[in-house]
Amino acid sequence: MTRGLIISLLAICTLINLVISEDCKFVPPCQCVSTGFTLDLRNTVRPLSVIDGDYTYYIDPCGDHAKVAHFCNVAEEAGCQVKQSSIFGIASTSGYSATGDPFKNNVVFKNQYGEGTEIRVTLLNIKCNYFSEGHLVFVQETPPKTYNFTLETNRACTVPAEDDDGGLSGGSVLLIIFFVLLIVYLVGGVLFLKFVRRAEGLEAIPNYEFWKDFPSLVKDGVKFTCRGCKAESTYEKI
Ligand SMILES: *[C@@H]1O[C@H](CO)[C@@H](O)[C@H](O)[C@H]1NC(C)=O
Repeated sequence: MTRGLIISLLAICTLINLVISEDCKFVPPCQCVSTGFTLDLRNTVRPLSVIDGDYTYYIDPCGDHAKVAHFCNVAEEAGCQVKQSSIFGIASTSGYSATGDPFKNNVVFKNQYGEGTEIRVTLLNIKCNYFSEGHLVFVQETPPKTYNFTLETNRACTVPAEDDDGGLSGGSVLLIIFFVLLIVYLVGGVLFLKFVRRAEGLEAIPNYEFWKDFPSLVKDGVKFTCRGCKAESTYEKI
């Protein structure tokens, strides 16, 4: 009984750890730090640029005007959109912030430039791409004056390329192995009990007594996990 409880708790802890989400913390000029990984854009392609329609966009993801000075004419600009002689700032040298979880590949760098009705907003959705140091893609302008881009870069990859087998993270592989073993155990157990032991009805479920108690074990397990996976002293009383 106690061993079954520990096993179910370990499984629950593993599952909960896999779905835990943690926003990274922005560190100027262009890093986002989370436990186990720092997204650092200092060595990406700078400035980034992309053409959409009549406009060409130039952005330095680290807010350095010097990188875009050739295209953006105002000293406070770290990014701009250019159409012939019209230049509009879309990012400022002091304006970056970031949110999202690098392990979920959903970090967004945000910046804005201007005042009042002339505020223009830049959103950089940072996505892991093993084959690019920095590639800017224009997604859309929605709402007006909010420019949504994707920045594909290997700086955002939390798993080294050689460990990556077609986009599955280590966590997903563990999860798949866990469920495959679970199915083998259940199907194999039912077949064994039914055809070898000649069990009938619910008796054919492997470890039926344990699974009957499983819902309450899960409840205990969640409580246990929420206390930080430390066993309670009254544990043995169960
Ligand atoms: C920006 O584009 C990305 C990628 O297509 C999308 O996931 C995101 O929701 C968009 N954000 C906004 C604010 O439109």
